[in-house]
Amino acid sequence: MNQPVMQGLDLNIPGHVRNAKLIAWVADMTALCKPDSVYWCDGSEAEYQRLCQQLVEAGTFKRLNETRRPNSFLACSDPSDVARVEDRTFICSAKKENAGPTNNWMEPGEMRATLLPLFDGCMKGRTMYVVPFSMGPLGSRIAHIGVELTDSAYVAVNQKIMTRMGKAVFDLLGTDGNFVPCMHTVGAPLAAGQTDVKWPCNKTKYIVHYPETREIWSYGSGYGGNALLGKKCFALRIASNMGRDQGWLAEHMLILGVTNPQGKKYHVAAAFPSACGKTNFSMLVPPASFEGWKVTTIGDDIAWIKPHADGKMYAINPEAGYFGVAPGTNYHTNPNCMASLDKDVIFTNVALTDDGDVWWEGMEKDTGAMPAHLIDWQGKDWTPEIARQTGAKAAHPNSRFTVAATNNPALDPQWDDPDGVAIDAFIFGGRRSTTVPLVTEARTWMEGVYMAATMGSETTAAATGQMGVVRRDPFAMLPFCGYNMSDYFQHWLDMEHKLKSLGHAVPKIFCVNWFRKDEAGKFVWPGYGDNMRVLKWMIDRIEGKTKGQETIFGIAPQYAEINWTGLDFSTQQFQTVTHIDKGAWTEELKLHTTHFEQLAYHLPKQLNETKASIERKLEA
Ligand code: GTP
Ligand code: SPV
Ligand code: MN
Repeated sequence: MNQPVMQGLDLNIPGHVRNAKLIAWVADMTALCKPDSVYWCDGSEAEYQRLCQQLVEAGTFKRLNETRRPNSFLACSDPSDVARVEDRTFICSAKKENAGPTNNWMEPGEMRATLLPLFDGCMKGRTMYVVPFSMGPLGSRIAHIGVELTDSAYVAVNQKIMTRMGKAVFDLLGTDGNFVPCMHTVGAPLAAGQTDVKWPCNKTKYIVHYPETREIWSYGSGYGGNALLGKKCFALRIASNMGRDQGWLAEHMLILGVTNPQGKKYHVAAAFPSACGKTNFSMLVPPASFEGWKVTTIGDDIAWIKPHADGKMYAINPEAGYFGVAPGTNYHTNPNCMASLDKDVIFTNVALTDDGDVWWEGMEKDTGAMPAHLIDWQGKDWTPEIARQTGAKAAHPNSRFTVAATNNPALDPQWDDPDGVAIDAFIFGGRRSTTVPLVTEARTWMEGVYMAATMGSETTAAATGQMGVVRRDPFAMLPFCGYNMSDYFQHWLDMEHKLKSLGHAVPKIFCVNWFRKDEAGKFVWPGYGDNMRVLKWMIDRIEGKTKGQETIFGIAPQYAEINWTGLDFSTQQFQTVTHIDKGAWTEELKLHTTHFEQLAYHLPKQLNETKASIERKLEA
């Protein structure tokens, strides 16, 4: 292989890289972005340590106390770069209607013309990292390969944890294997002699997807889903397009295994919007009264689900690590997660303790007290007194940890199985202070799709913008569906026929809400480990053990059907979290109407029919 040299710059192509398309692309992108050097990641431990040390020297990373938090680092981002930027995220399909009304769209040619000048010279003074990764177990028929070109070493080390990253991917690509090209720059070229900042980024941001050509171009941000392009950009927005074309699903879902005392195991996939409890639910520790029950994690954020010839739906977690919300995580809410974070972690935007460890809001529940002094995520002094006076948070509400799945003590033995696990039930749940009951079961696939399609949720810090307002977040996919939402609903409806034609019952669909509040504004449902009580009711339903009760919005549990051992939860409290208020639902249905009007183009007519039948029940 002759080695192309770009404007005097050696591309440093390793001998084991033989993929012609990849080499040509790297050459083109090098010519465009004009980095000082090109580095091909091999995914080794030595490389990880070297890049982390380099980030320490650059001031991006602080190495944490080696005794308290071995092999772990803290990064604090620029305050303007702390979450996904939904208003800067684009689906550039050839036709606007294929992006649909829920996505920002620009004509692909126009977007390319916008981006080219921004990318021209964008990596000057920096290294371009070539990051090869597999989403899903290497070589699995459900997996797909991506290569991210980035000028951020922070991205490279995060990708090592979040994906199967390294040399083996180049081997798998061979000479002519296919991959999704993922272009990423922080958009902060350095002039000769210019000193770098700790967290380079650009005020201008573009998170761009070309669904037809399966490309991703991300400009200006170094944070999370904006920059770790295997995650939302590839595994959801591009993969949802692949799934539509090829007959499978790419979903914003956790996957868990739940084993009963007799050893029978079920698998559940659950969609909750960002920062609404997927990581927590996927690592659930059942209450003491559930002796012999076990919950194991397959994935905490994304599921790729394919119907199989046996008529079942098989799911894999395309990721290899967790990029999870730190605040609120403690030994009470998520002990398995806390144990996962003992070592080998990259923390972003949490606070630093005086002894070189990390802290975030919620940890005081474990220690019984606030720390006397911290350095907050913005590098400022923080004391409980300052917090009382100014309301300053020590950790950013969307601060996160990056950790390998293999650190999780509750990791499912099948998490890495290339065949995936057969899904027995789907759960959809939003964050709703009112209206939506604790749990209901859809009577039909159609009713389940309706529940998911009309799901609302109060917005969280996971995306920039206003917090706490209810918005429709169908299937928890509003920011992640890479094509027209109504076509996506149809794709879900089509699944039923596909599975039935293979002679198998479709999984049950449930709708949950852990977040109902009382008049004082307090959560009524204890949540976290106690969510096992709801999960157990679902399994009883799958096994046909309970009758439930009919409501206008599916089948709900009777009080006596839930195992209450070890929890003091009165029929009155149960009523508060389960009752269906006709007035509130009349208002809710109006919001569904508006929602469907916005999605009118290609909206499956069965959704409006289902709405009409709920309205009739409400009026009766
Ligand atoms: P992304 O990674 O953003 O997709 O989010 P996620 O769904 O994995 O979010 P995560 O599990 O990290 O949820 C974090 C937030 O949900 C925190 O504010 C938790 O306190 C809250 N949370 C999780 N489970 C429960 C629950 O059962 N009850 C209540 N009240 N809050 C919960
Ligand atoms: C989410 O916002 O749903 C996340 C975090 O999982 S990020 O990867 O930043 O999108
Ligand atoms: Mn997510």
